[in-house]
Amino acid sequence: MAIPRFAVLAHPVAHSLSPRIHASFGRQMSIALDYSAIDATAEEFGNALGAFAASGGVGANITLPHKQRAAAACDTLSERARRAGAANTLTRGATGWHGDNTDGVGLVRDLTGRHALDLRARRTLLIGAGGAARGVAPALLDAGIGDLFIVNRTPERADALADALEQPGRVHPRYLDDLKALGEFDLIVNATSAAREGAMPALPMSLAGARTAAVDLSYGEVAIPFLAWARAAGAHDAIDGLGMLVEQAAESFALWHGARPDTDPVFAELREHRAALVTAD
Ligand code: ATR
Repeated sequence: MAIPRFAVLAHPVAHSLSPRIHASFGRQMSIALDYSAIDATAEEFGNALGAFAASGGVGANITLPHKQRAAAACDTLSERARRAGAANTLTRGATGWHGDNTDGVGLVRDLTGRHALDLRARRTLLIGAGGAARGVAPALLDAGIGDLFIVNRTPERADALADALEQPGRVHPRYLDDLKALGEFDLIVNATSAAREGAMPALPMSLAGARTAAVDLSYGEVAIPFLAWARAAGAHDAIDGLGMLVEQAAESFALWHGARPDTDPVFAELREHRAALVTAD
């Protein structure tokens, strides 16, 4: 039997850890798979996904900047992908792709499992309203956080996300400029890609305190400015997105292969790998 083909589609894709993660999961679970990385710009995405399907691709992970595009390219969507308007896990059906979104559950598993945080009733600030923010917001609400405040550079997108979440008494869009008036949060999630452009929204220190967990959905260099801000502001926890990356991958793996791998050894391997990269720099 041919080895099933999987891939991650992104732009850029060179530094994606997904091929490494899925190869490790496959070894751990004794499941043979071929997982590659496909670089596709926004213009190339549709053709690249079509070519991957034509070549026998059965599953794809989708990441920056294509998650909303991917949802639109699917024939069918899971409820959580529909709510997010963004897909990170595509599975090939008889006639087309089925889209799902494992980012939110991946984040919640990382925070409640690996970091042993109790999310219930946490007053939460979500910074950003793009694909990444849309992916995690429903899962945070489902995990029992308290009020959710959403701020975004483009306020209309924060309004649109708040509307889409359909919990008006609990979800509050606000202006970035008004952050100072919002007091302290128990959980702050940075879901912007601002640091990729060398920028970070100006955040008042008053947002974080001794109870605050601050989480950046990215990892590596781009997570540094936000996590440094969080530590300087006195946050109790400053957590990057590497654990979420491994957890969302395990959820995708389970959807495709019907069995969930143990994420701890793979997380430890990636931490070591990244530390070695930094040392080599
Ligand atoms: P992703 O899938 O990473 O969410 P996206 O959908 O392009 O990608 O969303 C990027 C997010 O980062 C958005 O919230 C975006 O704000 P806008 O909606 O105003 O574009 C935010 N973002 C990107 N660059 C930013 C910057 N320099 N300052 C503040 N926010 C920024």
